[in-house]
Amino acid sequence: MKNIPFKQIVDKFGTPLYVYHGEHIEKQYAKLKEAFKEIDLRIHYAMKANENIEILKIIKNLGGGIDAVSTNEVDRAFGVGFKPEDIVFTPSCASVSEIIYALDKKVNVHIGAIEYFPLLGNKLKGKKIGLRINPGVSIGGNQKIATSHSDSKFGIPVIFLEKIKKYQKEYGFVVNSLHVHAGSNISNVEDLKNSIDNFFKYTTIFDNLEYLDVGSGLKIKYKEDDKEIDLESYAAHIKSKLKEYKLNLKIKIEPGKFLVGNSGYLVTTVNIIKQGYKKTFAGLNSGFNHLIRPMYYEAYHEIVNISNPGGKLKKYDIVGQLCEEDTFAYNRKINELRIGDIVIIKSAGAYAASMSMDYNLRAKPKEILFKNGKLYLM
Ligand SMILES: Cc1ncc(COP(=O)(O)O)c(C=O)c1O
Repeated sequence: MKNIPFKQIVDKFGTPLYVYHGEHIEKQYAKLKEAFKEIDLRIHYAMKANENIEILKIIKNLGGGIDAVSTNEVDRAFGVGFKPEDIVFTPSCASVSEIIYALDKKVNVHIGAIEYFPLLGNKLKGKKIGLRINPGVSIGGNQKIATSHSDSKFGIPVIFLEKIKKYQKEYGFVVNSLHVHAGSNISNVEDLKNSIDNFFKYTTIFDNLEYLDVGSGLKIKYKEDDKEIDLESYAAHIKSKLKEYKLNLKIKIEPGKFLVGNSGYLVTTVNIIKQGYKKTFAGLNSGFNHLIRPMYYEAYHEIVNISNPGGKLKKYDIVGQLCEEDTFAYNRKINELRIGDIVIIKSAGAYAASMSMDYNLRAKPKEILFKNGKLYLM
């Protein structure tokens, strides 16, 4: 954060604003590559985290691929120059026509419900198909964002896998990959390892696998004392499973927030300091329309007053300007806030701009990339 010229950026572009640090994305990518260096790994950036074209270009220049979840995302990836083989398409409950579109475009499609097969029928002939499976096992971690337990809408319950083997013959396709995504922001690497243990059991059912896609779940630091996930230990576990199951397969991984989460900042201005009955509210010129994670997931984001770094620490509810319960942080201690101060909300690179909306007809912020000392309006 200290390397980014926020004051200069605000003078030029005003607030609210998303600012992304390009080198941070490159650093995270390199860290992941290094940790998995003994595995044949392809990184497919989950563009749902942030679909900004400049960010997709950074991923492309690094040699990464894309994880897309809608045909609009697939088309955006094509627009940036990704090839069909660079793209995995893992939608959730999408229409049959979207799946046919992706198959026709020859991207790697991961089907997430057995019910699609009869609906796709002869469209499947001669195709290689991936399966997003749901092992139906709770692996721990945050249940709100867990996706491979038995009550989750995601993935094919493993009790249907034998039937899909029969469908292969009936419709003339081949299952070439299995996919699992245990959830997001998994803090304990043992939970991810458990997920991998469950997942590998099902690799013995299909004979023509070419790759395994282990989704994501890679935790980042939201608080100063948070720890990133232990990548080395996770990679070693995957390596040992490949050996145990005698599989010589490519591994695909689909990080979103690991690559971009801590590259991003939501830069805001204090509109008003308001005294309630018991609380002091600091009202920013932003809201959950720009960063929904605190309200939706009760997520913690660090908040810094860059206009008054030496100010006395005071407690505020830091709120937005929407006509809703709209709170970034409750009872947060921060250097004294005054009208006009510039306040930065950290870790806003992932699931911030991409989940933003213009509720109350409040516009979405501009996005600025800071890379190699230069500023780009994205
Ligand atoms: C299938 C799939 N892959 C990858 C991701 C990216 O997850 P994260 O941003 O936590 O890395 C998600 C996020 O929800 C997902 O659903």
